[in-house]
Amino acid sequence: MTGLIIAIDGPAASGKSTTAKLVADRLAYTYIDSGAMYRAAALRALRLGIAEGDHEALARSTEGASIELPKRGDGPVLLDGSDVSAEIRTELVTALASVVSTVPGVRRALVRQQRSIGHATDCVMEGRDIGTVVFPDADLKIFLVADLAERARRRLRQMKEQGLLGEDGEDENERLLREFAEDIQARDERDSTREDSPLTKAPDAIELDTTGLSIEQQVEAVVRLAIERGAADRGNEKAVRE
Ligand code: DC
Repeated sequence: MTGLIIAIDGPAASGKSTTAKLVADRLAYTYIDSGAMYRAAALRALRLGIAEGDHEALARSTEGASIELPKRGDGPVLLDGSDVSAEIRTELVTALASVVSTVPGVRRALVRQQRSIGHATDCVMEGRDIGTVVFPDADLKIFLVADLAERARRRLRQMKEQGLLGEDGEDENERLLREFAEDIQARDERDSTREDSPLTKAPDAIELDTTGLSIEQQVEAVVRLAIERGAADRGNEKAVRE
């Protein structure tokens, strides 16, 4: 069966994960974080000691990877059977994922998996090329954007909430905000300028600027559009399906 597919693309830290997860919850759809797959592929390459420039080995390693994603937002990500949810979020793996995702053979292996998941169920899939390459016929395509400064602030807040940073003083916060902004900009640049499946807005995607929006407003906007395209708001029925 082919279910309804909602594609959510956008640059780093534009609010994709939070929005996609909550929209999937409201609609009782499967949530797929395609970025987690690129991160897992990067971690596998790191563990195997594969050089960044060895594209053939990177593709082979990705093809041989077993990557399992949680169906809802909060379960573990499994790589070859072991929980790598925390390890794929480290700075090292984050940077390497952006590099590894430029390799066509890596993309081919992961896109194949993404399509087979998406064709099996109603889903919300987030990434960079979901509406352009993975599912050009998606029922709804959203392209999220937000100001760079706002994205850096969100990253800082998120890392503090996850306990990855201490409660440092103002000076330290300013320094971190500058560092995050530079890092986000560098990733955007690499993700948007690579040859294979660069980050671009599909012509029929709806752009949503989340800079001044609350999470509730972002979610509501996407859910409303999904309902217009035939999805049912099952927010209150979730318990029945689980
Ligand atoms: O969304 P994220 O930050 O977890 O993604 C990690 C990296 O993976 C990002 O730098 C770009 C890449 N990526 C991609 O190329 N295509 C996707 N569909 C998703 C992520």
